[in-house]
Amino acid sequence: MHMVATPAHLLSTAVALDNEMVLRIRNDFPILHRSVNGRPLVYLDSGATSQNPLSVLEAEQEFYEQRNSAVHRGAHHLAVEATEAFEDARETVAAFVGADPDELIWTSNATEGLNLLSYSFLNASLPGAPADAARFALAPGDEIVVTEMEHHANLIPWQQLADRTGAALKFIPVDDAGALDLDAAAGLIGSRTRVLAFTHASNVLGTINPVQTLVSLARAVGALVVLDACQSAPHLALDVKALDVDFAVFSGHKMLGPTGIGGLYGRSELLNAMPPFLTGGSMITTVTMERAGFLPSPQRFEAGTQKISQAVALAAAANYLSETGLSRIHAWEAELGRRLVEGLEAIPGVRVLGPGAGQERIGLAAFDVAGVHAHDVGQFLDSRGIAVRVGHHCAQPLHRRLGLTASTRASTYLYNTTDDVDAFLDAVSGVRSYFQA
Ligand SMILES: Cc1ncc(COP(=O)(O)O)c(C=O)c1O
Repeated sequence: MHMVATPAHLLSTAVALDNEMVLRIRNDFPILHRSVNGRPLVYLDSGATSQNPLSVLEAEQEFYEQRNSAVHRGAHHLAVEATEAFEDARETVAAFVGADPDELIWTSNATEGLNLLSYSFLNASLPGAPADAARFALAPGDEIVVTEMEHHANLIPWQQLADRTGAALKFIPVDDAGALDLDAAAGLIGSRTRVLAFTHASNVLGTINPVQTLVSLARAVGALVVLDACQSAPHLALDVKALDVDFAVFSGHKMLGPTGIGGLYGRSELLNAMPPFLTGGSMITTVTMERAGFLPSPQRFEAGTQKISQAVALAAAANYLSETGLSRIHAWEAELGRRLVEGLEAIPGVRVLGPGAGQERIGLAAFDVAGVHAHDVGQFLDSRGIAVRVGHHCAQPLHRRLGLTASTRASTYLYNTTDDVDAFLDAVSGVRSYFQA
């Protein structure tokens, strides 16, 4: 099998990351060397989409140059190699999140993974659904519990499922410090709860949620647990089995991979009992004009031609992250996150959302600048080559809870230096005077 170029940063993973090593890491990311508006790019929007190292770009190109073919069908040489590369990628990415290969379903992104679940549960709720799908069925009187800090991707699919089945949707509130109200959670999760869906880490607050506590509450009442790992899989060592969740979703483009690929983890016995969402080619055993039988997981949920080159490239991204070491990536981002929060809190008129300085968070910070709209803040920063995200970050209910309609978010990754954070802080400190706020 083709070997991609060794990343330039490879060092002993026992050594903590520092600016010098990060500068070497940056050499693997061509886009970080471009300029924007006449300034060197300072990319602080990895929470939305991360950048790709050369090994990822090369893996996708190599696939198209050498192996491009449909998988699981052809008898010819290229088809065999493409199938091997596709399934090797599954093995790599499954191991990356602590799953077995047959427990990882390729999706386009986390949004599709969550929709896949909600539509499968809907199919299980319809009259005539197979008996072994009963554990996923919802009906009036049942409850789905989410949290007030969810990204719309982990809210709207459950709203839709509740609407269509007559189940009720409940939410665990967020306190003023940006943490989940766990007393309220204990009161909400009860005998009617069939599904508990929550984010591992908030894309706005940076809060890391207490998975173990929430899973215990769900287990005590036999509810299914769905984890949105979009903001955790790229940044900390994720082990879905150790976390004991039933399902987890993540997006490749947030973890150095290409767009158009993501993963849905599900416990094997659940996936094999769950009715499929999309149906068609490649997911069947036998088809007559009246009926079809379905393959076991993962093919059961992978109808049609798959995202093959993207899966191969995502495996290269997982390898890059593993070789760098998730624990040192997490530690470096925690340091950048601390610097961000402390720096922002020191700027008059800036309110940081979520845990304050000194409290655990992933390496991002969303904030409000008194008297200046987030879009103006974003444009001001962009004119200095600094890329951040502005708006409600697909979390309108959370912003409403915080008394805001929009905020500005800076999010770091393994390729950001403390100089990036300082350039950003320096620019933010000039926002209010520029806008005379
Ligand atoms: C916490 C969280 N969940 C879900 C998503 C949706 O990811 P995607 O748009 O890749 O499906 C995001 C993306 O920002 C996110 O941050």
